[in-house]
Amino acid sequence: MISSGAATTTYPLPVDLSQVQGVVLRGYHMRFARYFTLSAKEGERDAARGFAGSLVDGSAGVPQIQTAVSWGANKPSTCLNIGFTSGGLVNIGMPSELVAASFNTYAHRPFYNGAATNNVSIGDVGPNDPQYWLIDDRKFDVMLALWADTLANLNATSAVLRNIFSAGFTETGAFDSQDLPDGQIYFGYRDGLGQPTLIGNISQQPPDGDQTLVDTGAFILGTGTTPFFNADTVNVPQPAPFGNFGSFGAFRMLQQHVDHFEAFLDANAPAFGQMYSIADLAYAREALKATIIGRWSNGTSLMYWPFSKGTPPPNLDDQTINDFGYANDLHGYTCPFGSHIRRGNPRDSQPDQDASLHRIMRRAMPYQNPYDPNDRNTGETGLIGFFINSSLTDQFEFLMSQWIDSYGSLSQDPADPAIGYNVLAYDPSKPGDVPPYNFTLSAPKPIPPPRTVTLPLTIGAPPFTQTRGSAYCFLPGICGIEWIATKGWIRQG
Ligand code: HEM
Repeated sequence: MISSGAATTTYPLPVDLSQVQGVVLRGYHMRFARYFTLSAKEGERDAARGFAGSLVDGSAGVPQIQTAVSWGANKPSTCLNIGFTSGGLVNIGMPSELVAASFNTYAHRPFYNGAATNNVSIGDVGPNDPQYWLIDDRKFDVMLALWADTLANLNATSAVLRNIFSAGFTETGAFDSQDLPDGQIYFGYRDGLGQPTLIGNISQQPPDGDQTLVDTGAFILGTGTTPFFNADTVNVPQPAPFGNFGSFGAFRMLQQHVDHFEAFLDANAPAFGQMYSIADLAYAREALKATIIGRWSNGTSLMYWPFSKGTPPPNLDDQTINDFGYANDLHGYTCPFGSHIRRGNPRDSQPDQDASLHRIMRRAMPYQNPYDPNDRNTGETGLIGFFINSSLTDQFEFLMSQWIDSYGSLSQDPADPAIGYNVLAYDPSKPGDVPPYNFTLSAPKPIPPPRTVTLPLTIGAPPFTQTRGSAYCFLPGICGIEWIATKGWIRQG
């Protein structure tokens, strides 16, 4: 019989950073990353689990999992984290009924069923359809994520890992990412600015416009103290040593069609400039670009620096750059409702709704394939990495379906102009079909009421971004990795 093991655990747990995988709470700010997808070898489950265990037991010569404990002044040259797919847990030996009991629940069902299951509601249709994915959680068991300060260190540690994991796993893929100067991503915006501040500010975020502090339970299972994120509402996978301090990562590989994006800006800047009486075409282009995301290329928010004010200051400090809300812009005149950051986190836009319930940690970086340090604009380019939360249902998938890819109360536009997909135009009876991708951005207009005008922006297919891979991973706490490695389910019997 499989016992739940929950009886001995009292929730909420104190936040124990030494039990939490580091990527959940901090960006590593490393220059390179490599994501290995691994499949357990038939008949080699012991070796597969043994490898997982060796990452947390201090084994000599084996890179260890980075925890969320501060490294102070001693920043490591590499960081390693691990995630398991739902099928992967079964393939390395965990009883399928225990996997179902833990994950076939309201909060964790997207993980249990896989990233392709709710593809229509989250916009993975047309060119984003799972059939085109290079990374798919139905096709591998374990994701090993390695970050490094140099390419040499990335390759050296990769070689060590490959040597060890090959006993139990077949490497089915390795996907690289490399940072761009000044914290930029493709399309030329600064990224990584808006991240949740947790109760207790354990990840040391600067001021963020007095947004509601987010429950630690939104990211670390078992530590929630508020009704939305406590252990009853976002169940901790059982038994407790397996689930406590775990989290989930929606791993996304998103190709960015920079040429489409640039061509769009070129084509629409003149009309945009005309609408807003901006004579300088280059400036009109930058203002249009800022309107799409809600921030200027250098990260300055439109709320701090509306585009009617001219070029924003070049180097604002991080305190200023993220310290804003939308309470003074409830009609979207300064920052359009449809802009990417206002959709991704409406902050105080809707006084009757608590945006803090749907926050995510963003841990994605640019990728270029093949990597060319001398010309970063060749080959396939995009963004790759984890979007982290404790409830894929109420955080990542809610955000994608209700805010990014939906009309709803946030915006009269069908989808996010930067990354969204017009699911309303999608015809499920033609799954391979590329629907027309037209949207309007209700841009602010500095004239007397009614001040909102609809700027028709027509985008060809495929859109600016395209889903190239998606995998929902369970990121166990350190105790969870040990439990898996030592076949904890046997002890439960
Ligand atoms: C290629 C795809 C993407 C691009 C180019 C992109 C671009 C950006 C940029 C430039 C920012 C502003 C910088 C910042 O606030 O840190 C941002 C913020 C943000 N993005 Fe994205 N993003 C992408 C994918 C996504 C996805 C898939 C999601 C949802 C799961 C998302 C959710 C957010 C959120 C929540 C914020 C912060 C908003 C805030 O707190 O004010 N982004 N993104």
